[in-house]
Amino acid sequence: MKASFDLVILGAGAAGLMCAIEAGKRGRRVAVLDHGDRPGKKILISGGGRCNFTNLHCRPENFLSANPHFARSALARFTPQDFLALVEKHNIPYHEKTLGQLFCDGSAKEILAMLLAECAEAGVAIFLNQHIQRVEKEEVFLVNTKASGFLAPALVIATGGLSIPKMGATSLGYQIAEQFGIAIQECRPALVPFLLEQSDQQDWCDLAGLSAEVIASTGRQQFREKLLITHRGLSGPAILQLSSYWKESEAISVDWAPEKPALTSLLATNTRRDANAAKATLRETFPARLADRLVDLATPSRWTNAAIQQLENRLHHWPFDPDGTEGYDKAEVTAGGVDTAELSAKTMESKRIPGLFFIGEVVDVTGQLGGFNFQWAWASGAAAGRCL
Ligand code: FDA
Repeated sequence: MKASFDLVILGAGAAGLMCAIEAGKRGRRVAVLDHGDRPGKKILISGGGRCNFTNLHCRPENFLSANPHFARSALARFTPQDFLALVEKHNIPYHEKTLGQLFCDGSAKEILAMLLAECAEAGVAIFLNQHIQRVEKEEVFLVNTKASGFLAPALVIATGGLSIPKMGATSLGYQIAEQFGIAIQECRPALVPFLLEQSDQQDWCDLAGLSAEVIASTGRQQFREKLLITHRGLSGPAILQLSSYWKESEAISVDWAPEKPALTSLLATNTRRDANAAKATLRETFPARLADRLVDLATPSRWTNAAIQQLENRLHHWPFDPDGTEGYDKAEVTAGGVDTAELSAKTMESKRIPGLFFIGEVVDVTGQLGGFNFQWAWASGAAAGRCL
């Protein structure tokens, strides 16, 4: 049995639901298909269960893409304030955490419930547990599932990235792009913890759970936020942010004491100078075990002025050689994806295949940490939904 619609959307995540709402409000007959047993699973686990649903300071500079200008148009036409208006219409309490990041006071469930209520009001039909087997295009698109078929003149791919396969992530969106000859920018895990080599793990990983505010940098990019030591490497917002810009085999540098001298008090005359004095000084800034470890790993043989300066310098430029990342199992997002050169920046429609659209994370637009990835999902979903 085949059912006809004005558009079929593959993926009932953030972007797919927003696109469905916008198109449904304009009277289009919309079907959203998902292989999951419930929609919006990533929304539910986002932001530690509170969903960092947007960022008040969202700018094109907060996104990575082979074409940094591509996201501009969609972001300008559906802003954080537009999403906030929806949140306020549904009386969902929220707060700004830091740096413009907006979270629910209660639960991410409220954001999903809001999207589903809007879908219901717009007459959107959501089909769950749909195992998509084949997509074809003749006069219209035909999506074959195990049990039935869906026909529509427009097909929107909103199947997200490769991150967290156990939450339902698959490569379907990229496969459909390939099927239609649409180019893809190489995918890689982003917003992901780093792994450390065995010897660095021995030096650091027994401190798992300790954190400090640092500046983490590659040669090109730096982030001042928290670093967290894990059982296998480094994480925390500073590291997650940096990982999106990191290139395989590149060393990173950590400034453990941003913009302040950590040890220069030891240079004063008549001050005790030895490892214990250095540890006591660092303990004023760091958790004791971290302070002690920093000194133990870099203790000079003699505590001369030059050696103290050298140690100070090392604290501000502590090198790490990440041994890769935790990969898609732990990555918050997937960088790379459908090449933006293939899409209209205004509508997200393929330039080659009329009627075929790509939105959300499957596109080569990746936000920094802080609500930007959802803002891209809402904005790209709205861009497509408003033209269909
Ligand atoms: P999304 O992944 O949301 O949806 C894709 C949908 O397609 C899914 O429902 C999936 O089941 C379906 N699908 C996939 N393959 C299919 C197939 N073969 N057949 C049928 N259906 C298929 N961002 C942010 O801005 N703030 C935050 O707080 C967080 N927090 C966060 C925490 C964690 C743990 C993760 C993993 C990610 C985040 N993110 C985030 C990122 C954010 O969740 C992500 O960028 C958006 O959900 C992307 O929206 P999409 O709709 O593009 O994909």
